[in-house]
Amino acid sequence: MDVIQAIKDRRSINFFEPGKEISDGKLNELFEIANLSPSSFNLQPWRVVIVREAQRKKILRKCAFDQPKVEDASIVLIIIADPGAVEKNADRMLDSWQKLGYIKPEMRETYKGMIGNLYGAEDSLKRKFFAVKNTSLFAMNIMLAAKGLGLETHPMDGFDEECIKKEFNIPADKIIPMLIAVGNLKSGITLLPRAFRRSVGEFVSFEAY
Ligand SMILES: Cc1cc2nc3c(=O)[nH]c(=O)nc-3n(C[C@H](O)[C@H](O)[C@H](O)COP(=O)(O)O)c2cc1C
Repeated sequence: MDVIQAIKDRRSINFFEPGKEISDGKLNELFEIANLSPSSFNLQPWRVVIVREAQRKKILRKCAFDQPKVEDASIVLIIIADPGAVEKNADRMLDSWQKLGYIKPEMRETYKGMIGNLYGAEDSLKRKFFAVKNTSLFAMNIMLAAKGLGLETHPMDGFDEECIKKEFNIPADKIIPMLIAVGNLKSGITLLPRAFRRSVGEFVSFEAY
């Protein structure tokens, strides 16, 4: 499926066919593709917990305000933004840039300084924005890649973050921008037409706000 078609066809699906499995191979393909997402300084501040076992989905559903799709979908992804990715990944990223000739060795410290200035201290608001911004782009690519692989999705922010952190052993400093339910459309369901979108002129302007 071409990318324009995937964007046009993607919908948030409320009714998933229960009992449908997604193979490990397909899941791996999905994440290999989404992992090509762009990120600030290529720092890739995302993590994913795949919730696939029935009992674990039941617990997740409780944390997600009892949304039935959490249990019906084949899997639900807990999308996690990691503000600590700067410390974890900056050196590996700079090694790669240096090795591939993107930067000269003498520029390495300059880049580290730029990263420090841009994204602030690990517990700062700047750092949280950095993590959530990049992880949300990754999440969007998961949804488009899933469409390309013949799967449907539904992003959700209707959940109690503390509940999910506790039940799924996610450290307190991480942020959960959204859950994504993934699976197949329940048979016999016809989607309602796509809802209201603003006209382009309402949100686009030239040269200034
Ligand atoms: C970050 C995010 C969180 C969302 N949270 C929920 C949710 O908790 N429950 C829900 O039913 N829909 C949720 N939605 C789905 C939106 O309602 C849906 O994307 C919107 O109505 C547009 O429909 P479409 O995705 O089919 O184009 C969420 C969407 C996004 C992007």
